[in-house]
This record gives sequence, structure tokens and C-alpha cells, in this order.
Amino acid sequence: MLPSDLVQYKNNFKKIISLTAWDTISGSLAESAGADIVLVGDSLAMVALGYKTTLPVTVSNMIEHTNAVCRGFEKDLTSQPLVICDMPFLSYQCGEDNAVAQAGRIIKETPAKGVKIEGAEPETVKVISRLIRMGIPVMGHLGLTPQSSLNLGLKRQGENRFSQEIIKKESRILQETGCFALVLEHIPDLLAKEIKEDLSIPTIGIGAGEFCDGQIRVTADLLGLSSFQPPFCKPLLNGKEIFSSKLKEWVDNQKSN
Ligand code: KIV
Repeated sequence: MLPSDLVQYKNNFKKIISLTAWDTISGSLAESAGADIVLVGDSLAMVALGYKTTLPVTVSNMIEHTNAVCRGFEKDLTSQPLVICDMPFLSYQCGEDNAVAQAGRIIKETPAKGVKIEGAEPETVKVISRLIRMGIPVMGHLGLTPQSSLNLGLKRQGENRFSQEIIKKESRILQETGCFALVLEHIPDLLAKEIKEDLSIPTIGIGAGEFCDGQIRVTADLLGLSSFQPPFCKPLLNGKEIFSSKLKEWVDNQKSN
């Protein structure tokens, strides 16, 4: 599947389901669960590398983890999920040429077929436009954008009319710039509904209600493995407790035998 194929999902009212992955095991789990898109998100900074925020992660980290994720796929190439890789903090904010080089590394050195970029500041929009013209598909990301956490915190966005209008305007700009899809994170359900109805590209929500064209979750949050559980993701199981108590049982058994 190519990023440009996703619009058919929206046109045919077929929901797009996406999971994040950060290594070979999570890649294999996301593929076998049937995810349409596997996002190698910069949330791997917390999930896989133990950082407190996404800010420290590098393009080299993203490349290494994207390759590890793809090594976990078992289906034939044509049936594998679409892989999108996040461009990390400051990989696209230091000039257009540098952004093309960094995104180019991701596309040349991994099987990812597109990159995801947070925000829609004028400089970012210019970068997105250039990447798309250079042949690198871009997924947008608005609402809570963790790379801006030092300015905006990690709270729900679009809480007042003014900020809702900005998010709506930015979503249109990202569509006009050529993004193939848009992640909407932690915004009010009705705002996400308005954006979904306004845009012809698919919207993929996380903490944005049920009205988006698709849903994405951080797999570690769904499995109850994250050290911080976001308020908008109810874990499917208490993975941390289940796995650690089973391991403890085995360790205790070994010690007592
Ligand atoms: O990094 C990530 O996992 C993400 C998702 C929350 C959409 O950007």
C-alpha cells in the first residue's frame, strides 16, 4: 500500500487502523493484529529508550528502530502494513535543505514510505511542501504535539474557540500543502468531527473521539506497558503487572529448585 491509497479508505468509509511499533516484537504484533499503518513514532523515546519526553530522540534512533520494526513483519511485501516514520524534534526545523536530507535518510535507509511531521508553523509548511515535491509523502499531526511540550505542555488542545479556529485553519493548510493524512491528537471530539468533514484527506485520531476516519494508538499504552498512561487510552490489559508477575514466578521457581 502507498500513502496515496489511504484516501480510498475515507472515500469508501473504511476505517484506517494504525498502531505504533518500536522494535521487532512490537512490529510483529502490530502486523499480525492487522494494522493498516504501523507508525514508528517518536514516542519510542519513552517506550523503548526510557526518556521522559520525545525531545532527545534522533534521526539515527528512528532509522534503527524502523528497520527493527520491519524485520518483525512476516507477511509478503504487498500485504505488509504501510510504515510511516516520525521525523524527530529538530530534524526538520533547521532549514529546508537539512530537512530534506534528514527525511531522505529515513526513506533511503528504511522501508518507510512516508514521514510524519508535527505542527503547521509557516516554516514547517514550507518544509512539508518541499518534501512532498521531492517525492517524500508526509502525514501531518495537529492538536497535542509532544515536540512542542516545552511551549504548550502535554494538555488537550482546542479548548477554546480561538484555538479551535487555528487548528481548523492549519488542518486545511496541511491538506492544501499535500499531506496524505492528518493525525489529530487530544482535541475535542466535535472539533475532530468538523475537521474530518471539512477535509478530503483522512484524519486519524488519538484522544480525538470516534468521528475521525481512523484511529491510532501507542501500542505500549494499549498493552498497559507504558510508564505514563495517557488519559485518552484505556489499556486492554495490565501488561506490566501480568508480565512481571509471570517472570517473578519463573525466577522464584528457579531459585527454589
Ligand atoms: O509518536 C507517536 O507515537 C505518535 C502517536 C501518538 C500518533 O505521534
